[in-house]
Formats: sequence, structure tokens, C-alpha cells
Amino acid sequence: MKTIDKIQLDQNGPSVSKLGLGCMRMSSIWGGSTPDEAESIATIHEALDNGINFLNTGDFYGAGHNEMLIGKAIKGRRDDAFISVKFGAIFHNGQWIGLDLRPVAIKNFINYSLTRLGIETIDLYQPSRMDNSVPIEDIIGTIADLKKEGKLRYIGVSEITAQQLRRANEVHPISALEIGYSLAERQIESELLPTAKELGIGIVAFANTAEGLLTGELKVPLAENDYRNHFSRFQGENLVHNLEKVEVLKQMAINKSYTPTQLAIAWVKEQGDQIMPLVSMSRRSRLPENIQAMEIVFTPEEMSLLNTTFASGAILGGTYLQR
Ligand SMILES: NC(=O)c1ccc[n+]([C@@H]2O[C@H](COP(=O)([O-])OP(=O)(O)OC[C@H]3O[C@@H](n4cnc5c(N)ncnc54)[C@H](OP(=O)(O)O)[C@@H]3O)[C@@H](O)[C@H]2O)c1
Repeated sequence: MKTIDKIQLDQNGPSVSKLGLGCMRMSSIWGGSTPDEAESIATIHEALDNGINFLNTGDFYGAGHNEMLIGKAIKGRRDDAFISVKFGAIFHNGQWIGLDLRPVAIKNFINYSLTRLGIETIDLYQPSRMDNSVPIEDIIGTIADLKKEGKLRYIGVSEITAQQLRRANEVHPISALEIGYSLAERQIESELLPTAKELGIGIVAFANTAEGLLTGELKVPLAENDYRNHFSRFQGENLVHNLEKVEVLKQMAINKSYTPTQLAIAWVKEQGDQIMPLVSMSRRSRLPENIQAMEIVFTPEEMSLLNTTFASGAILGGTYLQR
């Protein structure tokens, strides 16, 4: 496998791998069983061996399970990994029940995260969402204080608006914006993406496969207990229409001798030097395919076909990512 290139997230910020490893699906998030832990740890090791140093987690992924898993995986090789942690979301029994962004809570959260991860400093620390109950200035100000205490190195944000991003960046320079972005999810292109670029903030782009829609492997009808049944994107006529769009991606994948997933990831990485595709991989078998995606280039005609087929609004129905 080819070693992954590095990118700099913001001008003074960290150098991280151009492809990130999303660890969320290594834990039970929306209920259901926990994937094979030995395989998850082996996947993290193999990712690190291939230069993928950016590991993404949240303290609420599996109610702390995900951080403990990463803690085990990086034992003895802390310097190989760049750990990005989200906080603030409260889950119970696989259900999102709200946010807690109070300064006193943040100071509490980070200590537990450090303990579960078994590290002294978190590389990138970020609120998972914002809400109106706590001013952004207090949230980012509290994280900045924790940075002064040496508990974290860089500050990020996730799933916020362009205005919120500007406000956050005025309190303390923001190194990274974690945001859903894919051929199927292009809302950020109108305002948020240009704002992040203007401010020199790196983009950590997740959900590149749009909840599996763009893998070309979606089996319909979905299983009864599949969480995607709750989202209109995966229901009835919307799903039929959306899968027709995916056929274009599938055909291009055949023509180029890649998979639809590889093209979906490659399209994201082509959107800018400071954009990192953050991809969930819970088994080693995913790594060669997704690493190879980082080598793909598109002709202008191919890019134009993708951008036309998947123009903003072309994919019908919402997911949890609709802002
Ligand atoms: N900030 C936020 O609000 C937020 C929200 C969601 C996620 N995230 C972060 O972003 C990461 C990625 O998000 P995501 O999981 O929603 O999206 P994703 O990366 O598009 O992953 C979706 C699914 O694609 C599968 N997959 C990966 N490579 C594949 C391949 N080559 N062929 C076929 N399927 C493949 C994965 O399966 P396997 O698991 O079976 O390998 C996974 O179940 C998460 O791990 C998490 O760290 C952040």
C-alpha cells in the first residue's frame, strides 16, 4: 500500500494525513452490537503503519467505549497518532438526548477523555455541535483555557454555520471544521466552505459515502432494523430516484476500474488541498481500497458529469445531516 500524504490543517496548524480514519463505527452508536474489537484495533494499527495518523472519535461514541478502544490501540505508539475528539453530545441507549456545552461540563468531559484515551494531551478537541444555551464565546473560551493548561493542542468545531465559525475563530484560531460533505451532501458549498477557506481553516469531511448510498452496494429494501429507514433519503420514491443517480457513479467506476466508494472519496479529496476525507473503516480489508482512492484523478469531463449528476439538491430526502 502507498503511504498517505500529509496536509496542514491550518496555516500554523498540525500536519495530518490527507485521509483520516473515522472510528465511530468501531463502537455501538445507535444501539446494536459492538464490532469485533480485535479487528478494530488491527485496523487502527494498519492505518497508522500506512501513515494515516488522524484518528477521529467522540466521547459519546459507545459511551466512552470508542476512546478506550483507541487508547488500547495507540498504547506504545502515541507519537504515530493524531487524536481528534468531539464532546458535548449526550446519548442514552443509542438515542441522542441533547447537548451539554456548559463550561463546567467541558472541564469535566476532557478529564474523562484523557483518562479513557490514556494520554496527556488531546491533539484536536471540538464541540460536536453548538446550541443557543451557551454562547460560542464561552464554549471556545473554555477550550482555549484547557489548551493553556496543556490538555489539548488545537481547537476544532463540527457541524456549525458560517456565522458561528467566524465567531468561534475570533475567540481563538480554529484549526479544523468537521462537516458532512459528499457528492450527495453539498449544502456547505454556498457559504460554509468558502468561509472556512477564507479563514484558512482545514476541512475534515465525513460521510463521504452518504451513509452508504454512494457505495453502490446498498441492498434494497433495507433490513427492518436498519437505522437509515428513519431518513426520507432512504424511503420510497426518493430512494428509487437516488439510486438512479448512483448508477452514473457506478458506470464511471466501471470505466475507470475503481469502485463507486473510491470515486466518492476521491471527489471529496479533489475539493481542495486543505480538505481531508474522513472515512469510517472498521476492518482492515477497507484500507487498501480507500488508500488507493487517494491516487484517483478525474478528467474535466468526468468532474463535470459528477458535478452535474450530483448538483446541489439532486439527491432527494434528508438524513440526520440536514442543517
Ligand atoms: N461530526 C459529526 O457530526 C460526525 C457525524 C458522523 C460521523 N463522524 C465521523 O466521521 C466518520 C465517517 O462518517 P460515516 O461513518 O458517517 O461515513 P462513511 O465514512 O461514509 O462510512 C459509512 C460506511 O461506509 C463503509 N465503507 C467504508 N469504506 C468502504 C468501502 N471501501 N466500500 C464500501 N463501504 C465502505 C463503512 O463500513 P465499515 O464500518 O463496515 O468499514 C461505513 O459503514 C465517522 O467514523 C466519525 O468519526 C462525524
